[in-house]
Amino acid sequence: MNKLYKELGQYQEKNIYPFHMPGHKRNPSCMGMHLPVELDITEITGFDDLHHPSGMILEAERRTARLFSAQESFFSVNGSTAAILAAISACTKRGDRVLVARNCHKSVYHALYLRGLRPMYIYPNDYPGMTLNGGISANKVGRILEENPDIRAVIIASPTYDGIVSDVERIAYAAHSQDIPLIVDEAHGAHFVFSNYFPDSAISLGGDIVIQSAHKTLPSLTQTAFLHVCSDRVDPERVRWFMNVYETSSPSYILMSSLDSCVDKLASSGKDMFRRFTRDLEEARRQLAAGRHIRLVTPSHEEDERIFDFDRSKLILSTRDSSLTGPALHRILYDEFQIEIEMEGPDYVLAMASVGDTREGFDRLCEAIETIDEREEENDPAEKSEPESPTGEKKKMLEMEDAIESSKETCLLEESIGRVAADFVYLYPPATPILVPGELITGPVIRALRQYKELQLCVTGLWGEDGDSIRTVADGD
Ligand SMILES: Cc1ncc(COP(=O)(O)O)c(C=O)c1O
Repeated sequence: MNKLYKELGQYQEKNIYPFHMPGHKRNPSCMGMHLPVELDITEITGFDDLHHPSGMILEAERRTARLFSAQESFFSVNGSTAAILAAISACTKRGDRVLVARNCHKSVYHALYLRGLRPMYIYPNDYPGMTLNGGISANKVGRILEENPDIRAVIIASPTYDGIVSDVERIAYAAHSQDIPLIVDEAHGAHFVFSNYFPDSAISLGGDIVIQSAHKTLPSLTQTAFLHVCSDRVDPERVRWFMNVYETSSPSYILMSSLDSCVDKLASSGKDMFRRFTRDLEEARRQLAAGRHIRLVTPSHEEDERIFDFDRSKLILSTRDSSLTGPALHRILYDEFQIEIEMEGPDYVLAMASVGDTREGFDRLCEAIETIDEREEENDPAEKSEPESPTGEKKKMLEMEDAIESSKETCLLEESIGRVAADFVYLYPPATPILVPGELITGPVIRALRQYKELQLCVTGLWGEDGDSIRTVADGD
């Protein structure tokens, strides 16, 4: 059987006329711009069906499972988002109690809402001196599970957006001691299996379902992701059923071929590609580490479980010892050096490296940071206000679901203190909620939101023309 992406590549050469969707009929002249319409097909003869695969797509998913050493792998063309919704749904019954790392991505919260799940939260450790989250404590997970035997699944994100890795093996042990599954959002760690330079993947550490965005760190198109089933605690039939619920019924063959060709490429040349990448990355890290004002932060293992491990492909550049803020450094990199970075926080920027990077790309970043760092020699670290970090435990006043469905009032930020949030509020990225509907709005949260707005960070979930308001649960609701 031919591979999906090869067959798709050859199909355009065949003289088959398309009396079927998509509406562009593989005819570039009817399009407003150049897009690969020649490759854009639907479930036509011989091309299998993602939702009921029995041919090329099933084979492609099986090759993926072999490459990642999973029991079964599923393609997602709706990112890790759909895969997370499906994973949580497949591992729970409506209304179940689940243990959730509070720094999970918004898609996890959406799954909780859709399935009416009752979350207990576990907060990540602090990361002293920076507005970063640390890891999730395995000891705490164990304790919570022993005290709450009605919990039916554990959900964590490891690595985080910033590359912080938790002790997945011990967290899995704690979950399995209660005979419940561990779902690991490894959206940012699809590259882990390809080099010992990176932390071990949750696939080999006891994660029962592991979700990875291929598009984030592997050579694959945006929206593409994998869901790996790694143990018998998970019913793959239920996973497939829920993938059908959450994914489009018209999956793109371009996206599926992208996953298939990514797997093929990494199976044949992954070792060499990652050897080159990790060598260039390590050299770049060595150069960036010379900065005195723009400092490369490399979290390392700490015995107190604060940090278990770190993904060195995340280049965290702290502005704490400079006159700059994270957004100011981002602007300089963009305006003067034409470098776009992945994310900015109040006191850092995150440059994300991947196997697709070139030596020239790394050199550009290193030279830019070196120049900015030298300039900072002359700049007095300005009177910057201390970055706010609203990561402390939030008080739940209402179930999330009840707050979402409540009548809402719009309040000015300062007037909302002491009221109950009716919306998710988060920085985008990383889209991990600062406030979850149903939580008490406090002074520190509002101070942090004000500071984020002043820094022009992208705060999502605020209302009013200037984003000066927030929606709260109406009085009496
Ligand atoms: C930790 C985490 N999980 C899940 C997702 C969702 O991934 P996707 O964009 O592939 O849907 C993201 C997106 O940024 C993320 O940061």
